[in-house]
Amino acid sequence: MKKNLVSLAVFGAFVALGSQTAIAAPDWNKAAKSTIHVFHPGAAPIEWLQGKGEHSGAAGMKKGETCAGCHVEDGKLSLDLKRLASKELEPKGAPKSMSYPVTVQSAFDATNLYVRLTFKAPAGSFDKSDKDNEVKATLIFPNDKVPLADLAGCWAACHEDAKGMPKGKDNKTKHVSAGAMDLMQWKSSGKSADGYVTDKRSMEGGKAGATAEGAKAGDTYTVTFTRKLAGNAVLAPGKAVPFGIAIHADNAGGRFHHVSFGHTLGLGADGDVKAAKQ
Ligand code: HEC
Repeated sequence: MKKNLVSLAVFGAFVALGSQTAIAAPDWNKAAKSTIHVFHPGAAPIEWLQGKGEHSGAAGMKKGETCAGCHVEDGKLSLDLKRLASKELEPKGAPKSMSYPVTVQSAFDATNLYVRLTFKAPAGSFDKSDKDNEVKATLIFPNDKVPLADLAGCWAACHEDAKGMPKGKDNKTKHVSAGAMDLMQWKSSGKSADGYVTDKRSMEGGKAGATAEGAKAGDTYTVTFTRKLAGNAVLAPGKAVPFGIAIHADNAGGRFHHVSFGHTLGLGADGDVKAAKQ
């Protein structure tokens, strides 16, 4: 009986999506679920994290310890969120919800990787500068030439001179000193972006052929990304790759997103998120 219900639901989903082309079609019922907590990072760029004195993780980072290794315990954040909301690390203003969980699933086939995020985007953002999009969801995949890629995730691109940071310059975006990141974004207004980060950030011209689809049901968002295994970051079965998540909730713009630490996604391999071949 239960099985029939499931196949009915799957059949229903195919009918509902039937009019669209090139549908990402992994069977999400078969994909393992991981929970990753995203949080408001304040204005704590990589320079602050590597600086002596202020961040006691700096020494551990030099020895190759990952952010998540120190700050995620049993899947939960070990982080002083009050400090991240305080004037020390957030001079402008923090959102009401400093952190929330995101369910992450993934699968791959001979050509593509699929990643599905399911989350409730909290209200109460401080910054509401993106009038067009209530919610945006972003994934980044740094390649192995990006310094600190497998250690720091998105932070490899988050610098103190970037636009919106306290010491930021208006003409500077996210950037990395070497290598490149694939960056893909879903926007609730309906457009998705396939971009990259090198010495600048571009929201187009990506190499991973990324697309994204999303919908809100009740208070829950479900966003599915499809990207090629090829890209700046080349994904291969049997290997784990670093990736990071950012979500802009409640019309937040710029740096006022909730982000994950750098995590690993294993393609038929161990990782914080496990993608099986389908
Ligand atoms: C070797 C362990 C270690 C590593 C690696 C590490 N941290 Fe930390 N981090 C700490 C400790 C301990 C604190 C709290 C005391 C302090 O600020 O020095 C902290 C504090 C912080 C804070 C301020 C909030 C708080 O809890 O005080 C942020 C934000 C942060 N770390 C982010 C990161 C990021 C991002 C990375 C990776 C780029 C990272 N950390 C790597 C140990 C670590």
